[in-house]
Amino acid sequence: MNPFYISAYKSPEFFCDREKETSILTETVTNGRNIMLYSLRRMGKTGLIKHLYFNLSQNTDYQLIYLDIYRTKNVQDFVNELANAMLSIQKKQWYQKAFDLIKSLRPVITINPVTGSMEAEIKAVNSEQSLSNLDVIFNFFEKFSTKVIIAIDEFQQITEYPESGFEALLRSKIQFLNNVNFIYSGSNRRIISSMFNDYNRPFYQSCNTLYLEKISFDVYTTFISKLMLENGRKIDTSTVENGLKWTESYSWYTQNFFNRLWGKGVKTITESTLFDVEMDIFAEKERDFVELRNLLPVNQMNLLTAIAKENQVQKPNAIDFIKKHRLGSASSVNSALKVLENKEIIYFENGVYKVYDVFLTRFLQS
Ligand SMILES: Nc1ncnc2c1ncn2[C@@H]1O[C@H](COP(=O)(O)OP(=O)(O)OP(=O)(O)O)[C@@H](O)[C@H]1O
Ligand SMILES: [Mg+2]
Repeated sequence: MNPFYISAYKSPEFFCDREKETSILTETVTNGRNIMLYSLRRMGKTGLIKHLYFNLSQNTDYQLIYLDIYRTKNVQDFVNELANAMLSIQKKQWYQKAFDLIKSLRPVITINPVTGSMEAEIKAVNSEQSLSNLDVIFNFFEKFSTKVIIAIDEFQQITEYPESGFEALLRSKIQFLNNVNFIYSGSNRRIISSMFNDYNRPFYQSCNTLYLEKISFDVYTTFISKLMLENGRKIDTSTVENGLKWTESYSWYTQNFFNRLWGKGVKTITESTLFDVEMDIFAEKERDFVELRNLLPVNQMNLLTAIAKENQVQKPNAIDFIKKHRLGSASSVNSALKVLENKEIIYFENGVYKVYDVFLTRFLQS
């Protein structure tokens, strides 16, 4: 069994660190406060929430609700995600009551043919009805005998709903809840930070915030070495470190890289095994690169390549950089920069621009 998981959360032994973050989250939500969790994409927000829930489910009697609203398009979808998240909790004293409540909202119940699980779809005639359904559900949480924690993943999605006042409505409903605490999670820096930091937005300073950084090199090195050893593989610390340098200790890329390294099936992993994995990744990225080149206009493609080659760039519209990489005019660079950032191909953080995809960066550097 490959110990480097790259999709769903498995269990604490396969999850690296995040001890400080887990205790901050625990302290916040178990003391009646809400929190916003933010990071770059693929850094580990969802994994951290699952990890937190794993721990809380062992030590407390909270009802732990998790919903991902990435695919929701309006308030009705939001209510449905919430309803189904409620029904996914199997605890005896919860399930029957939750089921009766959802039933009272007259859902269409279907069985998902793939998962075999039951799905409820509450159809509302208009958004007012969806909002009143939401009130009914929140009321249920308020009256429930134990505390409820709700994690709303991809929270920025509510700003896309056609019901324009929903952000304010949700905020005002939430502030009257005493028995429920929220974890809002998201990764779009522009939207999330504006939702919580602009003083004219409803969620302005409404909760604590937690920013998820990269896991430190030392901690990740120890974690990887231990998993390798425990599962019968030999690898030098320096080889682990070189792998981590290559992936910049970025969670998803690191897990993916070491998953592949493991997958090579060799008992003693060496620098040459690392090299083989890098070559496999390059072959895949070459295909991505061709596709991107067909999709993006030349100025965007050139800027992307230039940023990748430098690894990170402070001022992409500086004369030196533009000249060195023959990027044309500063205004064309500026507009390409904006588009690439909006498409989440590049990001701006700690004063520098970088390409999101670490593997693509390595390919373009090669
Ligand atoms: N601390 C960790 N230990 C081990 N694996 C991790 C850790 N954090 C994240 N991962 C792995 O990295 C991948 C990305 O994590 P996750 O999906 O939680 O990120 P995310 O921030 O929610 O991403 P997105 O913004 O795309 O939703 C997952 O496959 C997860 O298994
Ligand atoms: Mg996520």
